[in-house]
Amino acid sequence: MPKITFTDRNNGDLIVDAVSGESVMQAAMLGGVSGIVAECGGSMMCATCHVYVHDDWIGRTGERNEIEEEMLESTAEPAQPNSRLSCQITMSDELDGLIVETPRSQL
Ligand code: FES
Repeated sequence: MPKITFTDRNNGDLIVDAVSGESVMQAAMLGGVSGIVAECGGSMMCATCHVYVHDDWIGRTGERNEIEEEMLESTAEPAQPNSRLSCQITMSDELDGLIVETPRSQL
């Protein structure tokens, strides 16, 4: 079962178990990660699941698509080159140990 570390600037680190095939956002919701809001439930309409992917993992989490790029222009905290919508990162065994940071605010 792959694990994800969510680094939260307000509350510290939280390690969450994920299931291959689910999104990082879904794992965060089930794992009680307070730094992810996910208002739209994963339909790429809210950008409240914004995360910063740790440098060690940025090349392994896939590419942003065009709609994700547009949504990242409306995040509460400024998007950076390592920004992703966590609902668009699909977990797999290869991502075991993934580290993402949650923004100070999602709203
Ligand atoms: S949950 Fe709304 S964009 Fe990811």
